[in-house]
Amino acid sequence: MTDVPHNAPGQNWNARGYAQHADFVPALGSAVAELLAPRPGERILDLGCGDGTLTAALAESGATLVGVDGADDMVDAARARGLDARLVDAHHLPFDHEFDAVFSNAALHWMLNHEAVVAGVRRALKPGGRFVAEFGGHGNVAAICTALLAALHVRGISGKARFPWYFPTTEEYRSCLEAAGFTVETIELIPRPTPLPTGMAGWLATFANPFLHGLDDDVREAVLEDALAWLAPSLCDSHGNWTADYVRLRLKAHC
Ligand code: BEZ
Repeated sequence: MTDVPHNAPGQNWNARGYAQHADFVPALGSAVAELLAPRPGERILDLGCGDGTLTAALAESGATLVGVDGADDMVDAARARGLDARLVDAHHLPFDHEFDAVFSNAALHWMLNHEAVVAGVRRALKPGGRFVAEFGGHGNVAAICTALLAALHVRGISGKARFPWYFPTTEEYRSCLEAAGFTVETIELIPRPTPLPTGMAGWLATFANPFLHGLDDDVREAVLEDALAWLAPSLCDSHGNWTADYVRLRLKAHC
């Protein structure tokens, strides 16, 4: 197993901020939820459950959901919905052959040691269990990342060391799954331009901190200002509406 850090530093998870700027994330999870097709009586792990919006929707199927997340504010928000939500580092999943399915939406790209995560998912599943997930794939938010990296670069700051996300190709992730003992049923990259309800400024305020942490406030502001200016021609329309260049990697695999 490779020796890579588990999470990039600098991301602060705040359930209220997330709900304000990123409530489209669970709302756009319906396709991967359909691929999961939860059934009454099943026991399902939601890996990176966030504030539990999608976990609660899955539970309406009659399946029993356990949500895990690495951010205590998110776990508190999920518990406030009455869910069984637990504070767990996804790189050290503590489950042993107890779930019919593991589900994950918009979370796996935050977990940098994908081999450790996939090994834990495999261990969590009963024989024949399924893993259904969607997350940022190769090319995800590429314009946004490039604008941030360029705005750092022109100030002599190396952004590469700060790159906070894992956006694999289908080939790379398929190999990781097969090495862990999964049989892959479907795996695809899906470009999904995503309207941003609170604009690019809201998105950057919620997610760009891993690129910016440790910088003086004035440098931080200048980096954000440049990034916004450089992104506007390609991602902001003539009415001021912003769209993010999301690419999803969606997969279904079984043990
Ligand atoms: C995503 O869902 O693809 C994503 C969200 C925040 C930061 C990076 C990627």
